[in-house]
Amino acid sequence: MRLVAFNGSPRGKRSNTDKILQPFLEGARSTGLCVETETIYLKDYKINHCLGCFTCWTKTPGVCIQKDDLGLLVDKVIDADIMVFATPLYIFTVSGLMKNFMDRLMMGLAKPYIIKRDEYYTHPSRYNGSFSKRIVLISNCGFPGRYNFTGLIETFRILCQVSGANLLATILCPMGELLGISQLLSLFGWYFDAVREAGKEIIERDAIAPDTEAILKRDLMKEEEYVTLANAYFENITRGQ
Ligand SMILES: Cc1cc2nc3c(=O)[nH]c(=O)nc-3n(C[C@H](O)[C@H](O)[C@H](O)COP(=O)(O)O)c2cc1C
Repeated sequence: MRLVAFNGSPRGKRSNTDKILQPFLEGARSTGLCVETETIYLKDYKINHCLGCFTCWTKTPGVCIQKDDLGLLVDKVIDADIMVFATPLYIFTVSGLMKNFMDRLMMGLAKPYIIKRDEYYTHPSRYNGSFSKRIVLISNCGFPGRYNFTGLIETFRILCQVSGANLLATILCPMGELLGISQLLSLFGWYFDAVREAGKEIIERDAIAPDTEAILKRDLMKEEEYVTLANAYFENITRGQ
């Protein structure tokens, strides 16, 4: 089974997103069910934004006119059984890196015609079942409060619904900047253990068990304490500017 993860943080391996993604993949590999995982750090690829020219639907079906690295990633998507979209929350949605990747990828995988699937209008797949994948969404954000992820969740929910993909799970971590403080990491062992367990469960049962889900929804720290800590930090580094 092939699991391909796309990390959309400009911070790459140092990102808070990766602090969640890597234990998730470890958990997936720990099942002993022949799971092969790969992490693609989008920041290491040149993926321009979509030009909106629709050439990939008209003159060169399925092929973008831009000569950059997108083509290297399309086959990875087609070959994957499970795709993990791992992104920091940027203005209530995916990062720019992830959005450019998604725009270009989805256009190339679709044919232009409009069809109806259940009660939704969508485009047919260009390659048989190219996006009928199992999908996991991982994200973290700077603010406290799970409501910050509302738009992001809805984007993936509707995207999977119309494209025939199966959104297996979301792992969403508010106050994610805490994960980037190495001195604090030992406080969050319980969280990383649950993420690892989630990776295992996704492979074994295509879902995260309710007990694991409940742990993943616990706050890393009290919201008010986090806000006090964050403000003290910024006060210090900006010296009150
Ligand atoms: C351009 C930009 C936009 C952001 N927008 C939000 C936001 O809408 N809500 C939020 O809670 N945090 C927001 N953040 C904070 C990031 O989500 C947070 O720093 C996160 O931990 C970064 O994860 P990473 O290390 O994986 O990149 C934003 C950060 C940047 C740089």
